[in-house]
Amino acid sequence: MSQQSAPHPTDLVVFGGTGDLSMRKLLPSLYLLDRDGHLDARTRVVAVSREGLTDADFRDKAAAAVRGHRAVQVTEPDVLRRFLDRLSHVTVDVGGEQEGWDALTGALDPGRDRVFYLAVPPMISGRICHGLNEAGLVTGGSRVVMEKPLGRDLASARAVNDAVGAVFEESRIYRIDHYLGKETVQNLLVLRFANVFLEPLWNSRWIDHVQITAAETVGVGGRRGYYDSAGAMRDMVQNHLLQLLCLTAMEPPASYDRDAVRDEKLKVLQSLRPLTGDRVVEDTVRGQYGRGTVRGTEVLGYLDEPGGPAVSDTETFVALRAEIANWRWAGVPFYLRTGKRMSHARSEIVIRFREVPHTIFPGTNLPGAGSLVIRLQPDEGIHLTTLAKAPGAGALRLRSVPLELSFANTFATRSPEAYERLLTDVLAGDPTLFMRRDEVEAAWHWVDPVIEAWNGLSITPETYPAGSAGPAGAHRLIGRTGRTWYEEERPR
Ligand code: BG6
Repeated sequence: MSQQSAPHPTDLVVFGGTGDLSMRKLLPSLYLLDRDGHLDARTRVVAVSREGLTDADFRDKAAAAVRGHRAVQVTEPDVLRRFLDRLSHVTVDVGGEQEGWDALTGALDPGRDRVFYLAVPPMISGRICHGLNEAGLVTGGSRVVMEKPLGRDLASARAVNDAVGAVFEESRIYRIDHYLGKETVQNLLVLRFANVFLEPLWNSRWIDHVQITAAETVGVGGRRGYYDSAGAMRDMVQNHLLQLLCLTAMEPPASYDRDAVRDEKLKVLQSLRPLTGDRVVEDTVRGQYGRGTVRGTEVLGYLDEPGGPAVSDTETFVALRAEIANWRWAGVPFYLRTGKRMSHARSEIVIRFREVPHTIFPGTNLPGAGSLVIRLQPDEGIHLTTLAKAPGAGALRLRSVPLELSFANTFATRSPEAYERLLTDVLAGDPTLFMRRDEVEAAWHWVDPVIEAWNGLSITPETYPAGSAGPAGAHRLIGRTGRTWYEEERPR
């Protein structure tokens, strides 16, 4: 899907190289890329941390991380050995001694491309970039990768962007939103722009509303500290959900080119009707999970999760109604929803079509209009509900019948992890699936007033039991206009 050139020999330097992201996502994805022949034989990974590990210690840790990863399943000893040989560890205290930077200089090869992956909290991104620059490590072709959350509001996002931008040009900054690396998200673009049949229907004339859901069964786990200062709005809506909204709503770009695609996404963000004041009260819902049972297991409520205060107004669930003020979408609500400790883990985009303008089947049990469901996870696929005649010689009855495209059944091949796609693109120098500065800032520009209104109007989260469908307010939000969340009518 990306516009890749041949792999280049690269030194991939991971700051936060022994941290959670590196162990859970980056190293297993790099292993899979290596196994499948997508890493140049000369590419190396240099993990940077303050931990004072030897290369051998780090390789042991990495091997355990790779073996324990769900997508790896069986490690092939030769491949694992080859992969581990690419790894090394350098101790750098970013704000400390010069010695660490010297060691890093010694570990890098002047003849290779350099990618600096900042798997660290964004507040220290600027300091790292400054250190790299001072140490003379930023060569002409160097790129930098940043993880979300990029700031906690527009002002802090600008500060991070300024600090990193002082060292790297915008075209060399890769801001990750891992949802853009998911197979079905890329497929959404193909579905919309490589087929002719959807485009005529893709507007307010034929679409009644859109639902975008990212529901998780997991809680905040060991991340309570981070999460308490973020909440679902900053953690999921500002980035993942708004990116999905952009890809769903954007105009056809003139080409699959880094800026053509990102220009169109930006226009969507800039067309979002501001959610402020009373509209925040009416059109947003905050929730926080209490104790409950998720898939048969009793789990703690958010406030009892270790690592954070016993009293907290942090939301673990958000539902909201957004509107895009442009010709294509005027009057079409986009309902966005995300939550932790929900009954089912499910991420999907549901396009709900309007009813037919005139029915020639009066008196039948019209079960409702059709939906197109783009399912990101689990069971990636595309699913179209259509109305069909229920078999039988009696009175005419209509049934909602799904037309299914399951990626697993159709393509007998493994779907790559989101990080495999994104790491491949960074190594190839293709930023199409990464967020540009103006997109990130436009998203904060829309999100900030909502958070300010929650604080200013003391809108506190409504408790929902873990393992449920979220707070009752979310059902009232969509129900006000006679609509329902998709799962309430899901064909079974
Ligand atoms: C991350 C959030 O960006 O996305 C997490 O910080 C969340 O809180 C995760 O759990 C969800 O990602 P995925 O790929 O499991 O849907």
